[in-house]
Amino acid sequence: MLNIPLMQNNIDKDDVNILVDFLKSSDRFTNGPKVREFEEAWSKWLGGGYYCVFVNSGSSANYITMTALKERYGDGEIIVPPIGWTSDIASVITAGFKPVFADVNLHNLAINVNEIESKITDNTRAVLLTHVLGYNGLSDKIIDICKNKNITLIEDACESHGAVFRGKKCGSFGDISNFSFYYAHHMSTIEGGMICTKDKEMYRLMRMIRSHGMLRECDDESYMAEIAKKYPEVHPEFLFTVPGFNMRSTELNAVIGLNQLKRLDANVEKRRKNYDLFINKLDGSKYYTEFAHEGNSNYAFVVMPHASVTGLYDRMIQGFRDENVEFRRGTAGGGNMARQPYIRKRYPHINPADYPNAEYIHENGVYIGNYPDLPKEKIEGLCEMLNSL
Ligand SMILES: Cc1ncc(COP(=O)(O)O)c(C=O)c1O
Repeated sequence: MLNIPLMQNNIDKDDVNILVDFLKSSDRFTNGPKVREFEEAWSKWLGGGYYCVFVNSGSSANYITMTALKERYGDGEIIVPPIGWTSDIASVITAGFKPVFADVNLHNLAINVNEIESKITDNTRAVLLTHVLGYNGLSDKIIDICKNKNITLIEDACESHGAVFRGKKCGSFGDISNFSFYYAHHMSTIEGGMICTKDKEMYRLMRMIRSHGMLRECDDESYMAEIAKKYPEVHPEFLFTVPGFNMRSTELNAVIGLNQLKRLDANVEKRRKNYDLFINKLDGSKYYTEFAHEGNSNYAFVVMPHASVTGLYDRMIQGFRDENVEFRRGTAGGGNMARQPYIRKRYPHINPADYPNAEYIHENGVYIGNYPDLPKEKIEGLCEMLNSL
């Protein structure tokens, strides 16, 4: 039996020991200096010069991003992919924007640039590009379109830490980028997320939204003074500028993040090697293998049998079950998001079939786990099993 679980615990003994030492020696555990240190370390890892906001999940990063955009732009539309994660879309809806789906590519599972172009209207406020399961989803054209049309580009890199485009990390191109540190991802703070931007106004907004919308959280003395002066009837220490949340994380999560960050790049490399082995061994006559290769950072293997090979999908599912290989159908987020009840209920005019690539991925794609210590023999065994079906 292959016995391949979807994920492996990546909080190791060293993380635990460092956390215990911190607990014994510290007297502040909620959002404080360790959070700040982790935010600075993350900015450096991403390439430097970013304002980073550590939050309690990648979804919170999505929600804060959309709430900040709403505060800045008011109403409008956000172009989103039907393949990604539910909070990519749910955050758009709860912030009061209209989600506009644009179909994805098969080769990187990311939103297609021509589809984006065809969906842009005068009301488009942003494009949310999700880097799916470690594939870089960026292209020069996407970046140029957003720049030329003055549309905010958001990169959701929640499941693609360390993926690279043109030699720079994904998450460093957009006006805003979001990361998740959920347990299953490339690195973990158990739960956690990071928002990154170089836009100071956005940063101020995001910090306030993270903490109830409170002015004193904005990290900008002169802005605080300016706003406090404008509202003399409100006590400045309890001045709420935006409808916010409490989406802060803790010092404990930041301590783990700081330690995990030390091994992130090495783990990305190991995952890359695993992926290369996997994709090179997989039989391209049975499975889709034309995925984009450059700059990938896959924490999962996507397996997509050609629909033209009769019965292969069912045999693959049975093969996974027989060999105790954990899998998720539909790839990221369960496949075509336009099929989900919360979309159908709110937007009955949205037809899932209008996104044929997302439909194809929904029907044919699955993913399985790829983690740094996955043995070579298991990857080879997995490919042998799949190729024999
Ligand atoms: C693309 C994407 N965005 C957002 C999220 C949300 O992250 P979290 O699970 O930390 O809330 C995920 C989670 O898996 C994700 O894959």
